[in-house]
Amino acid sequence: MKDKKITIKDGQSGNEIDLPVLDSILGPNVVDISSLEKDLGYLSHDPGFIATSSCESKITYIDGNEGELWYRGYPIEELAEKSNFTETAYLLLNDKLPKIEELSNFSKDLSNSYTIDSSIKKIINVFNKDSHPMAIMTACLSFLSAKYHADIDIQNQSYRYKSTINLIAGVPVISAWILNYILDENFQTPNKKISIAENFVAMSFPNLTNEQKVLSSKAMDIIFLLHADHEQNASTSTVRLSGSSETSPYAAIAAGISTLWGPTHGGANEAVINMLEEIKNSDKDVEYYIDKAKDKENSFRLMGFGHRIYKNYDPRAKIIHKIAHEYLDMLDSKNPNKPLFDIAMKLEKYALEDEYFVSRKLYPNVDFYSGIVLKAIGIPQSMYTVIFALARTVGWVAHWNEMIQDKNFRIGRPRQLYTGKTKTSYKDIEER
Ligand code: CMC
Repeated sequence: MKDKKITIKDGQSGNEIDLPVLDSILGPNVVDISSLEKDLGYLSHDPGFIATSSCESKITYIDGNEGELWYRGYPIEELAEKSNFTETAYLLLNDKLPKIEELSNFSKDLSNSYTIDSSIKKIINVFNKDSHPMAIMTACLSFLSAKYHADIDIQNQSYRYKSTINLIAGVPVISAWILNYILDENFQTPNKKISIAENFVAMSFPNLTNEQKVLSSKAMDIIFLLHADHEQNASTSTVRLSGSSETSPYAAIAAGISTLWGPTHGGANEAVINMLEEIKNSDKDVEYYIDKAKDKENSFRLMGFGHRIYKNYDPRAKIIHKIAHEYLDMLDSKNPNKPLFDIAMKLEKYALEDEYFVSRKLYPNVDFYSGIVLKAIGIPQSMYTVIFALARTVGWVAHWNEMIQDKNFRIGRPRQLYTGKTKTSYKDIEER
């Protein structure tokens, strides 16, 4: 078969060049524009990376129009039903589901790394209790990057494996310690005999009954699994760009955490609860807030709605909606989260019937219902994005590993459309 190409012609000079088209397994093929400047003297321009593929990846596939999400080819619905966070982490890292012995070794490696440097507790203690946990989290990751600085050897497979395990096992322990701190509890000791989700719940809420621990760990494990990866989003792209400079993986993950924090990315789960609480405590009805979100003069947006890629229902939102139903049903009916859940469902119903949301294809995203489940588990609001970050650490390290082994691995360096001054002579201060 003939090589696919796209021919572009410069309307001014009449010059024409062929750009190779690279086949994707699924989704749009991509045009390789790397010779554009050399052959035609132009750069491509795509603010917000609307139509730009930044790398080749085999990890996660999203079909935003169909509302599909697959990890290594496996639909998220099947993984949420049949797998668990640890097995899914193995899958994301290794491109295959583990055999019994492989899963057992991987789980052992992880639990042996629950024990992390206890100096991290000193770092956490430095912060005010009301500091945002995401800021504390980045500081803890900076500590780890200092601790492992002398060992950096990213081309070495065993260094990468050790860092990967340290991060996937250590970040949840750090997260539980941050939670202990802001809840004024003693720092808890991790338990090597249990899974990451069970250990996180046990460390975070040591006073729960066994039955409550089982229930909350199950919900938490699915939340971790659903957040484990989401292809080239802002934080993952940050980890890739940061890691491309061959910096420490701990430092690259700290950069990813900072990016995830923002309200239009991982911080949206916190913003959703703020919005639902505001609606609950207001004398205005849900329609008022729908109108406010549509009003272009008003900066208010329906948080947990809309997505750059999904132009359909986010499949993760469907799964979390179901968990929220089941989990809240299992808790007693007077649970204070029930009214928030009811408001969320009402907002969803109105929005999905409203021309503004329908025409723009704005559907609930993963954050719309996740905060409700986390709130019911007892997680303080400021910790929601930390939970997202601890789960996404798996995806971040999977992408970091993939990038380093890519045949095209080199430092990332975007270009720009310069619209500033032309060459200007410096004037002494008295002459300006
Ligand atoms: N409420 C009201 N209008 C909205 C919303 C919303 N939540 N989201 C998008 N729109 C409108 C927007 O005003 C624009 O309208 P128009 O075409 O008339 O100018 C149109 O829909 C397209 O929006 P956009 O801002 O160009 O879309 P984007 O792809 O740049 O932004 C988004 C995607 C997720 C940042 C945005 O939908 C948003 O701010 N949503 C609320 C925050 C949120 O829930 N974020 C979590 C994202 S999922 C978790 C994650 O991946 O981290």
